[in-house]
Amino acid sequence: MLRPATPDDPLRLGVLVSGAGSNLQVLLDTFNGAPREARVVAVASTRPGVRALERAAAAGVPHAAFPLGDDRDARLADWLDGHRVELAVCAGWMGILTRAFLDRYVAINLHPALLPSFPGAHAVAEALAHGVRITGVTVHLVDDGVDSGPILLQAPVPVHYDDDPETLAARLHEAEHRLLPRAVTLLATDRVELTGRRARVIDVEDS
Ligand code: GRF
Repeated sequence: MLRPATPDDPLRLGVLVSGAGSNLQVLLDTFNGAPREARVVAVASTRPGVRALERAAAAGVPHAAFPLGDDRDARLADWLDGHRVELAVCAGWMGILTRAFLDRYVAINLHPALLPSFPGAHAVAEALAHGVRITGVTVHLVDDGVDSGPILLQAPVPVHYDDDPETLAARLHEAEHRLLPRAVTLLATDRVELTGRRARVIDVEDS
């Protein structure tokens, strides 16, 4: 799916964000401190002034905002090209990526539910309202639909009776912070094979 990378020649990540950027921070902490198979080289946001862009600035990573407008996806892809990005990682990106982007970049997305349950922007509240006892987090490939691309990794998260959207979101975030770097490492080391929608993953959880 992607070239096998090495710490000497890491997979170049462009991280797409919209808000707090806690998942971005985990990627920066995991991959940018010392040579690893991947490295965050650019951060793009749907809007200016968000905490995630401050995190990129603090880490010395080039960053920019791309509010929705004419040709946003083509401009975003051009900017990522300028930073020689190889994989786009949507980590809280509140936007739809169109073919203008997806024809040029492989992208993965992090979603706070066990897809195909609860796609869309209100997954945490909808899972809680539905009464599921177990929800979770998903990393999937991005296609033209909403949270509909092939699933790469998932992890379950229990729902407690006294949860509210905030407490459940906090538990989901902890799971995301484990799952996203693992997904990036798997992709960067060429340990994901896709046949149709089915991903074969040679896992590295214990390594
Ligand atoms: C995450 O829960 C992610 O699943 C969702 O948006 C949230 C982003 O959190 N798409 P953060 O900005 O990484 O803290």
